[in-house]
Amino acid sequence: IFAAVEMAPRDPILGLNEAFQADTRAEKVNLGVGVYYDDNGKIPLLAAVKIAEEQRQKLAPPRGYQPIEGAVAYNKAVQTLLFGANSALVDAGRAVTIEALGGTGALRVGADFLNRLDPKAKVYISDPSWENHRALFEAAGFEVGTYPYYDASTRGVNFSAMLEALNSYAAGSIIVLHACCHNPTGADLTLAQWQQVIDVIRSRNLVAFVDMAYQGFADGIEADAAPLRLFADSGLEFFVSSSFSKSFSLYGERVGALTVVTADRETSARVLSQVKRVIRTNYSNPPTHGGIVVATVLSDPNLRAQWEDELAGMRDRIRLMRTQLVERIAAAGVTRDFSFVIQQRGMFSFTGLTAAQVEQMKDAHGIYAVSTGRICLAALNSRNIDAVAKAIASVIAN
Ligand code: LMR
Repeated sequence: IFAAVEMAPRDPILGLNEAFQADTRAEKVNLGVGVYYDDNGKIPLLAAVKIAEEQRQKLAPPRGYQPIEGAVAYNKAVQTLLFGANSALVDAGRAVTIEALGGTGALRVGADFLNRLDPKAKVYISDPSWENHRALFEAAGFEVGTYPYYDASTRGVNFSAMLEALNSYAAGSIIVLHACCHNPTGADLTLAQWQQVIDVIRSRNLVAFVDMAYQGFADGIEADAAPLRLFADSGLEFFVSSSFSKSFSLYGERVGALTVVTADRETSARVLSQVKRVIRTNYSNPPTHGGIVVATVLSDPNLRAQWEDELAGMRDRIRLMRTQLVERIAAAGVTRDFSFVIQQRGMFSFTGLTAAQVEQMKDAHGIYAVSTGRICLAALNSRNIDAVAKAIASVIAN
């Protein structure tokens, strides 16, 4: 059966974890995958999450099946995070939310549903984008192209080129956008630019799929949702994928959601019925634990406040690592200006290191990064930051 099966390449991001685990050097550092570690190099279990889990454990509820779309309380909480507490869009029944297996699961359910609607539509992702965006939409049956996004010379967004490209796409094309903390570049659109993107999406009849994997990691929960509020005000129909892997430090629990915004309540009912078919024929219904924990934290004012504090703590520590990395790279004798690292938002820095330099960082220093030059700032800490700065200095010098 398997004679013709070829060895697949390692995943460009998660494959680094495998190589990192196999590395026996004590000083190794994993700046590859987007995971937040605290200053002790540990993935935190948030206090708000721990309390919610303890409450649930005390109740010892039976483990029946969830509804195909997940728990009502969870889906409602997701809508409030995305669109605010008093959303006209939500009140009008225009938002359909289903609990998904992480942000990836949400993207895939959305992609599968979209493919049933129009398999010939072309999907456009940013250049560059999260490596899995292309793979995932291709796996759902789409042809995937890119729209211009990052400008290496300014370290910002080449907005005029992006807009020009969006203006050239056929009606029905699907545009994958990053709501905040663009992965991998950390370069986000301004709100004024978002409004222009929304105007083009409307005038060209494009379909927006907004990926929200880092809500709270740029400026805060509400501020980071501002682009979505513009979409909500636009009256358009659109898709949003949410992930709580990072913001709740619940990576392995696979807690995410897909929200489809439609024209009206009646359309929402039809859309939900079809999205449920996609889910039922894939994984049937979502697991209970992570979604209940997130819903518990978000619906209890004390736990919610605690969570927001902890999220702010993660955000602030990443910012501190940005400043310190820039200082230490300069202290290591590098004259190239790295101050752009401070401007970039979210977990990542798009360092400008070449694939060869990334390889050298791994071989000579045991420091792992994505081959595009993306590093995860959230994996830096007071013990490894010097070594990382020196390694960057040394590969640049060579
Ligand atoms: C990343 O970009 O590193 C994260 O989103 C984790 C993943 O699944 O790739």
